[in-house]
Amino acid sequence: MSKTLVIGASGQIGKMTTKLLLSQQQHVVALVRDKSKLNDIENSNLSVVEQDLEGDFSQAFTGCDQVIFAAGSGGSTGADKTILIDLWAATKAANYAKDHDIKNFLMVSSIGADDPDAIESELKPYLVAKHMADEHLKQSGLNYTIVRPGTLTDESASMQVTTQRPNSKEDAKISRENVANSLAHIASKPPGEKAIFELFDGDQVISSL
Ligand SMILES: NC(=O)c1ccc[n+]([C@@H]2O[C@H](COP(=O)([O-])OP(=O)(O)OC[C@H]3O[C@@H](n4cnc5c(N)ncnc54)[C@H](OP(=O)(O)O)[C@@H]3O)[C@@H](O)[C@H]2O)c1
Repeated sequence: MSKTLVIGASGQIGKMTTKLLLSQQQHVVALVRDKSKLNDIENSNLSVVEQDLEGDFSQAFTGCDQVIFAAGSGGSTGADKTILIDLWAATKAANYAKDHDIKNFLMVSSIGADDPDAIESELKPYLVAKHMADEHLKQSGLNYTIVRPGTLTDESASMQVTTQRPNSKEDAKISRENVANSLAHIASKPPGEKAIFELFDGDQVISSL
């Protein structure tokens, strides 16, 4: 039975993904900095590790065979947290995964992380951090799936997505529920080929990913 470590399990995507994995009878280790944020989940397949990602969180990987990195510094913090979480914690997570012989690493990256120079916006430092974390994972030797969602929304899950970037920027969005369902679906399959793709609301059923 697979055991998945969800990093950022108190976040919006992380928590939805945790609940979906548990509903599939999977074992989950939830890594959070405040375990009270998971008080509403009661499940014997869930164990919670309380640890700040700015410290050493290697212990959480013990006994896990899969990792989902869904943490992020968020839009209300500064460049220091972008470096410490989006870049450095993600980089450490890949290193710990390698040390613990993790079979599959799912990274929640971002649209634009492939080429941060392509846009001039205040998001550039964040996209550079995401880009470098993705590059580190790609070079780690781990089996990985890097998912690069478009702008996140709080719509309900349509359960339909596309990996093709829409022509208009306004359509380059995806609900957090669709991202979480996509992650839970990918995590429920045996590890496949290494993969990187963008993800948007679309017309392809998630189960075909
Ligand atoms: N916003 C967008 O349009 C967009 C687009 C593409 C990709 N993304 C990416 O999508 C991912 C998830 O998005 P979301 O909306 O689910 O994010 P979210 O709700 O802000 O969740 C972020 C998670 O990271 C955790 N975290 C942050 N700093 C931490 C620390 N020092 N130690 C431990 N945990 C820490 C938070 O913990 P707490 O609950 O304790 O704060 C929370 O669990 C992020 O990586 C984001 O960069 C966002």
